[in-house]
Amino acid sequence: MIRIAIDGPSGSGKSTLAKAVAKKLGIVYVDTGALYRTVGYHVYLNGRDPHSAEQVESLLSGINIELKYENGSQRVILNGEDLGDKIRMPEMSMYASAVSAIPAVRAFLLEMQKKMARENSVVMDGRDIGTVIIPDADLKIFLTASNETRAKRRTIELQSKGIDASYDDVLFDMIERDKNDKNRDIAPAIPADDAIIFDNSDMSVEESLNEIVRLVNERK
Ligand code: DC
Repeated sequence: MIRIAIDGPSGSGKSTLAKAVAKKLGIVYVDTGALYRTVGYHVYLNGRDPHSAEQVESLLSGINIELKYENGSQRVILNGEDLGDKIRMPEMSMYASAVSAIPAVRAFLLEMQKKMARENSVVMDGRDIGTVIIPDADLKIFLTASNETRAKRRTIELQSKGIDASYDDVLFDMIERDKNDKNRDIAPAIPADDAIIFDNSDMSVEESLNEIVRLVNERK
């Protein structure tokens, strides 16, 4: 069993790298942000305020989330419906960030994530994987990149999915969301004490991947 935690802010390259590392090692890639996006999506569908703990909590009992893995990609099924890219819409980023600061939401998603990490060799990406979900991970990486690099990456990623996004809006939303995620009271998006801080602003995906694989091999 090997368990790798990759945390960091949006656009830092977590999902691209985590997916590539999982493929290289033949293990499961778990995108935990998708879980918060799914709760956010459900709150949005029901027309509730994602900042209201009371309103969000009252919806949790009506949420059933399943994760499916196909060709290294994760699909999220909410109450029987495959959500596809619906959770990737820019509004869902803000909904996800808002609901992720609510303790009942984190408690609701906690056991599911811990169970995945207990039962499988995994690369998990998120904000609290090294601090809360897998505190004894074999390798913890906190991935960062400059604001400009991250906003550029996210804009390209969204546009490639056919989602209308301008660089300026993405940069503004990203900074706002990072502030929420970093400063919340519960499981803030900060590096674990034993995480390796890895700035990949000036690195290609291949260079970053090679470095992470080197770090994994060092720990085997
Ligand atoms: O990784 P992402 O951008 O898809 O995550 C969406 C939001 O979910 C992010 O702004 C904060 C929250 N999140 C979290 O609080 N903890 C995680 N492990 C993953 C995501």
